[in-house]
Amino acid sequence: MKFFVDTADVAAIAELNELGMVDGVTTNPSIILKSGRDILEVTKEICDMVDGPVSAEVVALDADSMIAEGRKLAEIAENICIKVPLTWDGLKACKVLSSEGHKLNVTLCFSANQALLAAKAGATFISPFIGRLDDINLDGMELIADIRAIYDNYGFTTEILAASIRNVNHMKDAALIGADVATAPPSVIKAMASHVLTDKGLEAFLKDWEKTGQKIL
Ligand code: E4P
Repeated sequence: MKFFVDTADVAAIAELNELGMVDGVTTNPSIILKSGRDILEVTKEICDMVDGPVSAEVVALDADSMIAEGRKLAEIAENICIKVPLTWDGLKACKVLSSEGHKLNVTLCFSANQALLAAKAGATFISPFIGRLDDINLDGMELIADIRAIYDNYGFTTEILAASIRNVNHMKDAALIGADVATAPPSVIKAMASHVLTDKGLEAFLKDWEKTGQKIL
């Protein structure tokens, strides 16, 4: 499973990138707001740092304006992935922009039928939002499983990008179901390394090591 980082925090991306944990980056208007940076400037900086796709989201609501915004965002760098919302106009923009050879991430997906439409419109990635479904007591992971089954039934090549990931269990479950990509905040990716028994075991080993009176260096 590929890891995308869901942030515009360049320092956090750089830290994970050094470890080979970054296969791409996703942003959205809220993430840009949080960064306090200019969208074109910060996106360019991220694109220069990361080899994989960097999603930058359009904000227009009608297809023609989305297409114009998408083309402008695509000028930032070769690895830009244009993010459009899963609306009828978003699908129209997806079709046109993907036909031009751009990478498209269709976002704000909350149903399997929406995912089916995005695949037919030429999306490179579909972004089902797990956490936001869980927030309203629906099962985000069931949606990932449904999309996986539908895409596999028909051989769609659109990649399932599990989004709105809130915790390490979301990462594990998305991997078990076979999501192609998971995008998560840096804190969730780092939390995957933690286990209480790792900490406890290490503490015990270090206590015993001290008793040996030895040194490695
Ligand atoms: C993904 O592309 C989205 O930007 C993101 O995962 C949304 O996450 P949230 O529901 O935590 O805002």
